[in-house]
Amino acid sequence: MSGECGTWPEGKEMALETKLVHQGINPDKETGAILTPIVQSTTFIQDSVEKYLDRGFSYSRTANPTVAALEAKVAGLEGAAGGACCVATGMAATVTVMSAFLKAGDHCVITECSYGGTNRAARVMFSDLGVTFSFVDFRDPEVVKAAIRPNTKLIFSETPANPTLTLTDIRAVSAVAKAAGVPHVCDATFSTPIMTRPIELGADMTLQSLTKFYDGHNVTVGGAVASATKEINEKLHFYSNIHGNIISPQAAFYILQHSKTMGLRFRQQCKTAQAVAEMLESHEKVDIVRYPGLASFPQKALADAQHGNGIHGSMLWFEVKGGTEAGRKLMNSVQRPWSLCENLGATESILTCPAVMTHANMLKEDRLKVGITDGFVRVSCGVENTDDLVAALKKGLDDL
Ligand SMILES: Cc1ncc(COP(=O)(O)O)c(C=O)c1O
Repeated sequence: MSGECGTWPEGKEMALETKLVHQGINPDKETGAILTPIVQSTTFIQDSVEKYLDRGFSYSRTANPTVAALEAKVAGLEGAAGGACCVATGMAATVTVMSAFLKAGDHCVITECSYGGTNRAARVMFSDLGVTFSFVDFRDPEVVKAAIRPNTKLIFSETPANPTLTLTDIRAVSAVAKAAGVPHVCDATFSTPIMTRPIELGADMTLQSLTKFYDGHNVTVGGAVASATKEINEKLHFYSNIHGNIISPQAAFYILQHSKTMGLRFRQQCKTAQAVAEMLESHEKVDIVRYPGLASFPQKALADAQHGNGIHGSMLWFEVKGGTEAGRKLMNSVQRPWSLCENLGATESILTCPAVMTHANMLKEDRLKVGITDGFVRVSCGVENTDDLVAALKKGLDDL
């Protein structure tokens, strides 16, 4: 029997590439517009008091149709049966999760190596509110298990971790969390759903800075938490509504469009990262390079088992011989197409100095303990030509 134009084939689960384009997006019923409209309206007229919320929306701090489309998309891509909650930034996502699960007197087991802002939120803001944190090495699930206390209410992982790329075995840590009855949130910003979907490996929540690969064009900031259950998703929406940190319809619209090419971009970025890592590993001026696609990566077996599609991400890092001075000289002199700045995961290739930029607010001893030295160079590969990128970085090293 032939299908009907405009309907989806029944009983066939769409592949990720198809979901990237279509998940959550339906042509506009009135106009046929193929893109989700930006519904730029604070409020939504109700048909009667009795029919309040019958059409799903009342006030755009609580819910908005453009944001709802993005939430459906993120939930579909992350394999999140409970749905997703999209907020203003990745940090808003982190703060929403922490405030939803952690009250005064509670304890959280959190990775000792994460994005600097996550560390700051825990160490400064939530500690001040009476929450205690154990910052531990998530490379070993037994260490995570040993850190759990009777009052532990959240386990917070990040994989690959920003900026050291240490990996968390999501399946193992989720099993530890489940056995203890504690929810596990995994910040999988560096993974993207193309490479790893934590909820499918047992995590309760996947956190994304949408600013990174989902947007991927350095255009917007945004964040999301995808949930395994409806109950968790509702809790997160409740707290997001209190914080008033919903993402704007404009930003949601951009991310809806940009995320369609995330798979194409990410695969190309991973290919370039592999080539850049191999050049660095063979260069005499490089002291150490870490990339999960290299045989020398300390957690190579876990990388191969956990990362899908034979890819290992677009992020890597290295240190040059000569320490801080030489590392900084390279960052200060590298030529285009490279740019020296913050952010990652976008079309432009970027070098970052975490000690001064993304991780400056960590306590110096905590930063050095996890290996973020002053000359540490973080690399985010974009979508420019691989050979151009390798050549420019190699020239920067040759000239040191
Ligand atoms: C892994 C990770 N999580 C969360 C964030 C915070 O995201 P945002 O900058 O969108 O607030 C970042 C930012 O760099 C990040 O790298």
